[in-house]
Amino acid sequence: MQIVTDIAALRARIAEWRGAGERIGFVPTMGNLHGGHLRLVEEARSRSDRTVVSIFVNPAQFGPDEDYETYPRTWTADCEALSAHDTDLLFAPGVEALYPDGGGLRTTVAVPELNDILCGASRPGHFTGVATVVTKLLNLVQPDLAVFGLKDYQQLLVIQRLVRDLHLPVEIVGGAIARESDGLAMSSRNAYLGDDERRRAPALYQTLRALADRLEAGATDFEALVAEGCRQLRRAGLEPDYLEIRRAADLGIATTDDTALVIPAAAYLGRARLIDNVRVRRPADDPEGDA
Ligand code: PAF
Repeated sequence: MQIVTDIAALRARIAEWRGAGERIGFVPTMGNLHGGHLRLVEEARSRSDRTVVSIFVNPAQFGPDEDYETYPRTWTADCEALSAHDTDLLFAPGVEALYPDGGGLRTTVAVPELNDILCGASRPGHFTGVATVVTKLLNLVQPDLAVFGLKDYQQLLVIQRLVRDLHLPVEIVGGAIARESDGLAMSSRNAYLGDDERRRAPALYQTLRALADRLEAGATDFEALVAEGCRQLRRAGLEPDYLEIRRAADLGIATTDDTALVIPAAAYLGRARLIDNVRVRRPADDPEGDA
């Protein structure tokens, strides 16, 4: 695996591969890699000739009181894991390479209709930071396809939207959510959970799964389901930030006419803010069918 920190060296290698007609798959990450990231790398590898991974802890997507400084950085283990997964190139730029003019963002990319809802409501500016850095990375790597985890569902929609709106010539692939054996979605921030919190954490997925089962069985009282889900989380010791039933296509407010839904949620547990979601295909509305 070649490790590159410099933009000119990255461009030279990509140009060589492109010249040879090779298809390039890309997985952007912030490092501290776990099984979920490695599945995304496998997904990219299975669809391309060359696999590029980036590790860049992006300051622009962290709020002033968030964990940018303490975000786990596990460089040696990450390099070993990526080599073992046949990554061809690891791009690991410094902050000054991606933001040469210093701290403040000069040009930003924002997707207004997704910016301020759900995770965006609790993390002002977060998605502008994500959209801006992903646009930079896609411009630098110029991949044929890029893989993003479905766990960060809102992030995936932000990226799909910006790629469409800016006519970027890249296919965006949503990689399946990787879960621990008890259902907890794999996340770098699971490292913040103490033993007792780790035991409680699977309640997030269990709650979403239970609501999804009810929707799939025909339940139509979304408000009651959401209230019940929040109660279930609190009983397990998690404090919901949000739990909602939304349209899967665009995260708009769901109505009983919608059949493709997603239940996204974020909940606080100790130092960790866990996020997860479950997608649901519910039966077309039947006035008699509330289960
Ligand atoms: O999901 C992440 O790890 C980050 O938000 C991303 C996409 C690498 C952008 O910094």
